[in-house]
Amino acid sequence: MNKFLQPSLAHGVVIACALFAGSAQAASIKISCSGVGQELEFCKGSAEAWAKKTGNEVQIVTPPNDASERLALYQQVLSAGSDKIDVLQVDVIWPGLLGSHLVDLKAYTKGAEKEHFEGFIANNTNNGRLVAMPWFANAGLLFYRKDLLQKYGAKVPGTWDELAASAKKIQDGERAAGNDKMWGFVWQGRAYEGLTCNALEWVASFGGGSIVEADGKVSIKNPNAAKALQTAASWVGSISPTAVLNYAEEEARGVFQAGNAVFMRNWPYAWSLAQGDDSVIRGKVGVAVLPKGGAGGRNAATLGGESLAVSKYSKHAALAADLVMHMTSAAVQKDRALRGSFNPTIGALYKDPEIIKANPFMGELYGTFTSAIARPTTVTGPRYNQVSNQFWNASHEVLSGKSKPDEALGRLEQALGRLSRGGKWN
Ligand code: GLC
Repeated sequence: MNKFLQPSLAHGVVIACALFAGSAQAASIKISCSGVGQELEFCKGSAEAWAKKTGNEVQIVTPPNDASERLALYQQVLSAGSDKIDVLQVDVIWPGLLGSHLVDLKAYTKGAEKEHFEGFIANNTNNGRLVAMPWFANAGLLFYRKDLLQKYGAKVPGTWDELAASAKKIQDGERAAGNDKMWGFVWQGRAYEGLTCNALEWVASFGGGSIVEADGKVSIKNPNAAKALQTAASWVGSISPTAVLNYAEEEARGVFQAGNAVFMRNWPYAWSLAQGDDSVIRGKVGVAVLPKGGAGGRNAATLGGESLAVSKYSKHAALAADLVMHMTSAAVQKDRALRGSFNPTIGALYKDPEIIKANPFMGELYGTFTSAIARPTTVTGPRYNQVSNQFWNASHEVLSGKSKPDEALGRLEQALGRLSRGGKWN
């Protein structure tokens, strides 16, 4: 069995014991949530509260943080019909890929889905079945050091060129002043789903489309997309460390959180950590929309987010669904927003003054979340992961200087053409 599926007892993370050991109803529910930033701690906390309230036991299964590795693990477990996981944390791009293995939650929601963003519910509806309940929303954001921008008289960058120029100036200045670890810009450049999110933002910000368009047409081989990838490649080794080619979310945050980067592209979770009591950058961080590609470009944020789902192979589907409903409830989402800066998926919570006070960007950048760019999951359906895999590999080749953008995009277009059988994805 995969090492990530070792029973959590072996890892010492059983988080609650059956309080009512004699109860015939008590069961042990295995929940898999990711461990990016504070995700695991928060998942544990609210699952534990449910366990206490209901007299059940909860075991945490810790899957890999890397979204692509997590998907591979889930596909392995689900295609084997295994009950090793009852509740799964499901990425916004997975309902189409995993839906046939997941329980229709409509029987358990009592209408709660009506409180959530309609688009998220539509995303999680697979052949008329509600296969996952929205848990938190994500959009790519630009985090920046307010204090350093001020010190060097720089503005929050409106274009990638402005970002690169300020990043270089501040990086050089800070290094000269004694911090030889300072970098201009950190982001996610590892060959995985996170790079698809970053590269889609660059491409869309230059007006280069969204890889595969809604009508099924493969649009990625175009001069704007090439320019976007070329621009990002020019950062590597200059304003971004070469190691960025192996960075996922937490590696980028590690550098920024240590005070060693001027700009960072990341998801909202990074905010509450930057503002933590022990954070060396507390009070020094601003959040903005990601820059435009230039004239004719736009601000582009990739839409991300996570839901909770129940495996069809669970022996405790009703209890597992009850846990999902607890964890995705307004009360739990509010707590997660206040303490962990996880964006709620319940629209009304964006009017909650406490939430907006703790996370000003949730109010100021609300439009960034509602207009974020979806990855082409709807049109490519079950082939999305292969599409993404081809795209992140092509992007990685350009970033690492192995291919010129035109060549990489030419090969990508051909590969996607083969996958789509000439534009007919279904
Ligand atoms: C975050 C997002 C998810 C995305 C992943 C990429 O977990 O919620 O949508 O696929 O990052 O690393």
